[in-house]
Amino acid sequence: MTDAFVFLREFVRDPNRIGAVAPSGKQLAARMCESADLADDHVIVELGAGTGPFTRAIRERHPHAPLLALEPKEDLAALLREELPDVEVVEAFAQELPRLCAEWGHPVVDRVVSGLPWTLWPPEVQRAALDAVVEVLSPDGRFVTFNYLGAHLMPKAQALRGELAERFGRVEMSSTAWLNVPPAFVYICSEPKKG
Ligand SMILES: C[S@@+](CC[C@H](N)C(=O)[O-])C[C@H]1O[C@@H](n2cnc3c(N)ncnc32)[C@H](O)[C@@H]1O
Repeated sequence: MTDAFVFLREFVRDPNRIGAVAPSGKQLAARMCESADLADDHVIVELGAGTGPFTRAIRERHPHAPLLALEPKEDLAALLREELPDVEVVEAFAQELPRLCAEWGHPVVDRVVSGLPWTLWPPEVQRAALDAVVEVLSPDGRFVTFNYLGAHLMPKAQALRGELAERFGRVEMSSTAWLNVPPAFVYICSEPKKG
């Protein structure tokens, strides 16, 4: 079964949790890694790994960096574990991040890479997940999350942009990954506002 088929099947089963009809492409995965400014000695967390396009891109570039991937869908998590046995794959939600990172042995992390469907969520769920991200990030940590071009102008996406600005001193946009379907860009969030 191809990743695209598995992803579409999961979307049909639970569209509100998956939030897209196809996995992200290689260009967007590369843009996510560049935007996160990853290094070999970084402790990295990925939220909403899906079929793993970002997980694979991170692993190819930084084979030895500790990497925790959250994916609540059992079937997707199982496939990821099989393909990438050295990635810590956990069937859990981003909102649980502080406890999960502590259990993993890295209560503070350097980078959080997100593939989450933020704009499908009510504001309180968005806030809980973003608060969890800020809680685990080191003071010089960075958070990256993508948005589809055009969709970022919709009210819910604008609200997310506001939530990011409340929690990070700097929020920048990457250049667009035009080859992605649909084209997308990355929000690059640094200077987390701790406590
Ligand atoms: C839009 S898909 C992105 C998958 C992959 N990162 C990609 O770009 O192709 C969103 C993924 O987030 C997962 N997800 C949904 N809610 C989540 C949550 N609260 N915490 C962690 N993952 C979640 C879904 O199961 C789904 O696999």
